Amino acid sequence: MRGKFITLEGLDGAGKSTHLAHLVELLKGRGKTVVQTREPGGTPLGEKLREILLSEPMHLETEALLMFAARREHLAQVIVPALERGDWVVCDRFTDASFAYQGGGRGLDVAKLNVLETWVQGNLNPDLTLLFDVPTDVAFGRVKNMGRELDRFEQEKAEFFERVRAAYLQRARFAPQRIRVLDGAKSVSEISKMLEEVITSVCQ
Ligand code: TYD
Repeated sequence: MRGKFITLEGLDGAGKSTHLAHLVELLKGRGKTVVQTREPGGTPLGEKLREILLSEPMHLETEALLMFAARREHLAQVIVPALERGDWVVCDRFTDASFAYQGGGRGLDVAKLNVLETWVQGNLNPDLTLLFDVPTDVAFGRVKNMGRELDRFEQEKAEFFERVRAAYLQRARFAPQRIRVLDGAKSVSEISKMLEEVITSVCQ
C-alpha cells in the first residue's frame, strides 16, 4: 500500500521544527516507517541548491525555477520511491511554500507557478498539509531573536511576511480538505494534542 505524504508549512518562526519532530515520533509510535525530509533540499543536489537559494541574490523567476528544480530531484530520488515502498513521508515545506513565498511574498504570477507545479509534480500532491499559522509580528519577533545569522528570506521585511501569510491562508481556504490550519501561537503541549487528533484521523 502506498504511504502517505504529509507536509508542514508556515512562516519562518511559526514553530514548524518543534512540531515536526513530535509528528515524526507520533507516526513512528503508530508503527509507520517515516522518511523525514525538507525543501528546498532533501537530496545532495537539492541541499546545494538550498545553500544558493538562501544566500545568493537572484531574479524572482530564477528563485522559483530553482525551488522547483530542487523539488523535481527530491520527488524522483526520495519522495516517490518512499511512498511506493509504503513509507510515510514527512516534509518540512513543499509547493505551498512556493505559492506563499514566491507568489505571495515576491509577487510572482501564480499562473507561472501553476505551470511549474503541473510540470514537476503531475498530479502528486500531499495527502495532508499542516499549516502552522501565527501572527506575522510573532513569527517576525521569533526570527529576529534566533541569535544566528539570518538567511535571505528571514531578512525580509514584515510586509513580505504579511503577504506570505495571506497567501498561505488563501491556499488553505481553497483546499480545506488537504490543508489543516493550526494555531501556531498556542503552547507546544496544546499543539501536540491537536497533532495527535489529526494523526489519529489520517491513520485510520
Ligand atoms: P526553512 O526550512 O523553513 O528554513 P529554516 O531552516 O530556517 O527553518 O525554509 C527555508 C526558506 O526557504 C524559508 O524562508 C522559505 C523558503 N522557501 C521558499 O521561498 N519557497 C519554497 O518553495 C520553499 C520550499 C522554501
